[in-house]
Amino acid sequence: MTTPVYPCVLSAQGLNLSFGAVTAAADVSIDIQRGERLCLIGSNGAGKTTFVNMITGYLRPNSGTIFLGQENITRLSPREITRRGVARSFQIPQLCLHMTVLDNVLAAMHCNRGNTHFLKPAHDPDSLAFCHGLLERFGLLSQAMRPVRELPGGVRKLLDIAMALTGQPKLLLLDEPTSGVSADEKFSTMDTVVQAIEQEGGEEAVTVVFVEHDMDIVRRYATRVAAFYGGRVIADGQASSVLVDPEVQRHVTGLAPASSSEATQVQP
Ligand SMILES: Nc1ncnc2c1ncn2[C@@H]1O[C@H](COP(=O)(O)OP(=O)(O)OP(=O)(O)O)[C@@H](O)[C@H]1O
Ligand SMILES: [Mg+2]
Repeated sequence: MTTPVYPCVLSAQGLNLSFGAVTAAADVSIDIQRGERLCLIGSNGAGKTTFVNMITGYLRPNSGTIFLGQENITRLSPREITRRGVARSFQIPQLCLHMTVLDNVLAAMHCNRGNTHFLKPAHDPDSLAFCHGLLERFGLLSQAMRPVRELPGGVRKLLDIAMALTGQPKLLLLDEPTSGVSADEKFSTMDTVVQAIEQEGGEEAVTVVFVEHDMDIVRRYATRVAAFYGGRVIADGQASSVLVDPEVQRHVTGLAPASSSEATQVQP
């Protein structure tokens, strides 16, 4: 085990994790640089969510280490990792359906600040101003007083991401931010997310890792792509090189390089 020699936001080194006979992570090593938008691609069961879960403390690797900056966070709990500036959204949004959009964001904010009464979020002026600002950046302010159960899947995805930002993280992991979003709204959803994250970061850009199945989204928004297959990273680099890699075409996209949008959708 070695401490990374160059500064990066997060360094995963030799992560392994098995569930019985299933290998979910096999010697996964990824360094994430500040300000990157790293996209994880791979077919169903390739190990993308497992990687996100190990980084955020929801799963512990059988072996390997995870550094956040210079700190070894491999054995820390999700809450301890969140406190250090790592936030995430979920493949299936984790929301309180009976509560309003505003109360969900307030609850997330209080939770991130260590307030244990987060299920009865205080509506004090400072908290309201913070949450209204966040909802506005996500285009959700007009929905603030609606119960979440009334909202379509795409709006729930946006809300889940907005909630992840209430902790003002330096590293944000988004598990399939456009799943459940209709095809013609995917780009506008991602535009909203990327702009909101950029505004949130201010001077210091928030580093983003996102999981995505739509190769048109990957090409447009990723600054770097890591392709997973069988728990292993089979390619890592710029989208222009990863997406034409023969192994990636065989195991992930299943296609020769093409620009057709309908030909490059990998079903989640
Ligand atoms: N908690 C768990 N218990 C048992 N097996 C698991 C668990 N989590 C993941 N796996 C298995 O590990 C493998 C990798 O799963 P993972 O969820 O990381 O895939 P994924 O790349 O996110 O797939 P998808 O695109 O379908 O979300 C799969 O075979 C999955 O069934
Ligand atoms: Mg997944």
